[in-house]
Amino acid sequence: MQKVIEDYIRMCYDGFLQGWHERNGGNLTYRMRPEESEECASLFTHDRHVDLPVDASPLAGEYFITTGSGRYMRNVPLCPEENIGIIKLDDDGKGYTILWGLERGAKPTSELPSHLLNHISRIKATDGRCRVIYHAHPANITALSYTIEPDARTLSRILWQSETECAVVFPQGVGILDWMIPGGTEIAYESAKLLKTYPAIVWAFHGIFGSGETFDETFGLVHTIEKAAEIYLKARSAGIVRTISDDQLRILANAFGVKINEEFLA
Ligand code: 13P
Ligand code: ZN
Repeated sequence: MQKVIEDYIRMCYDGFLQGWHERNGGNLTYRMRPEESEECASLFTHDRHVDLPVDASPLAGEYFITTGSGRYMRNVPLCPEENIGIIKLDDDGKGYTILWGLERGAKPTSELPSHLLNHISRIKATDGRCRVIYHAHPANITALSYTIEPDARTLSRILWQSETECAVVFPQGVGILDWMIPGGTEIAYESAKLLKTYPAIVWAFHGIFGSGETFDETFGLVHTIEKAAEIYLKARSAGIVRTISDDQLRILANAFGVKINEEFLA
């Protein structure tokens, strides 16, 4: 198996092991490097064409690995051909062709519009470095979304205060989108707007979208946010007596050479 597919499968299963992928919950897309799609070319045996409901023209000609809609992360290592696939976007970005995988009638994730528009936002935000968009259903960050208004400043401060490394891992903060119907184009446009600023956003009462240059970075970001949410909820139920101060957050950012989002500090 090609290394990029192995690495992709590992991330799917790691998310399952964390308990973030009940049933078919969550999805993952990876924008392949040219050498990776070339390496996989011998696998390309299908040419099923599908139209896209969004304009993904900035991604024209790009190859992506995607999870299948309705398929379970738990099953990805057992049968990659049925649960994930490789697609190539058309030259005008208005559709794509399934080249490998997604067998037995599978389609790419229903969140493909969100994934593609999020890739466009993160590519711009990172000078082309972002390659991974990951959607998961972790319990603690989802539970936390029931305890606050859908406001990025409130959420980011809670997370930064809940684990010392958080401000270093996501100094821009974490965005939050109020409840919307998943799987559509409207949630895709709203998510992509927030991903212009934040590397990760919470979908209230649903889960999280994270992004990164590598599988490790993306998984690590979501893992850090979820752990901070868990610590916050535990501390809150035990009774919070004190927390990390804004001055300490500034000192931390300086020490680690990151630019913390000052708009979220007092
Ligand atoms: P898919 O099975 O279509 O990927 O949907 C899962 C999900 O989490 C929707 O938000
Ligand atoms: Zn979901």
